[in-house]
Amino acid sequence: MPQPNISDSYAELIPGKPIPQHIGIIMDGNGRWAKSRGLPRAAGHRAGTKNIRRLLEEAVRIGVKVLTIYAFSTENWGRPRAEVGHLMRLISQSIRNELDELHANGVQIRHSGRLAGVEPALAKQIQSAIERTKENDTIVLNVAFNYGGRAEIVDAIKNLIQDGIALDDVSEELVSRYLYTAGLPDPDIIVRTGGEYRLSNFLTWQAAYAEYYATPTYWPDFDEAALREAIAVFQGRDRRYGLVR
Ligand code: FPP
Repeated sequence: MPQPNISDSYAELIPGKPIPQHIGIIMDGNGRWAKSRGLPRAAGHRAGTKNIRRLLEEAVRIGVKVLTIYAFSTENWGRPRAEVGHLMRLISQSIRNELDELHANGVQIRHSGRLAGVEPALAKQIQSAIERTKENDTIVLNVAFNYGGRAEIVDAIKNLIQDGIALDDVSEELVSRYLYTAGLPDPDIIVRTGGEYRLSNFLTWQAAYAEYYATPTYWPDFDEAALREAIAVFQGRDRRYGLVR
């Protein structure tokens, strides 16, 4: 498939081509980034957290409306206790330190995932961040935390049944309204850093027609230029949604 000519790392977006409304990011490679510098994994997660801020700002400049970041999967509980604890503290600290400024800049925080099983104080912090920013409309920062794509579909089915939805009323559109991402557009592009080529249970339903972009760059090194490059590649893709031209 022809790709745009990206001759340097500061690839420009392609004029006249659509900007993705919603970008999903699998932020992989924090641990390897740290290891390659002789640092503990925790340092990689700290650098990764800083990078969220940098890319959120760039996404706003570009005109992206929704950024979904994969912060913690339902499988990540299986990591060493100390690492899980560190990730929980990082998320809590980020809310404490960043929320005022995010709110002042019109960022709407959303959460995709289960709050059941999350430490109650953190769950409360997340809920109050969502509540406080719910009217903001510069960009949605949707944090996939304690998230699994399959768990999300299971939760949607349970809620559908609980609501007594009639069999004939079940449609793709209705299921979408029962997902954690209800009301958000589907992602146009899924970016995965860190060199792997899999979705890892991320936006399983929503990514049905997303373009996929994988890069070996570790998450903490995935900078503004790298994001623009990913978008330029997306703009060069031919999205057919199963149709013919
Ligand atoms: C993958 O790298 C990264 C994660 C599992 C966690 C991502 C979390 C953050 C960037 C910080 C917390 C988020 C917020 C919202 C403040 P890895 O550890 O799997 O890297 P590796 O594959 O190189 O080991």
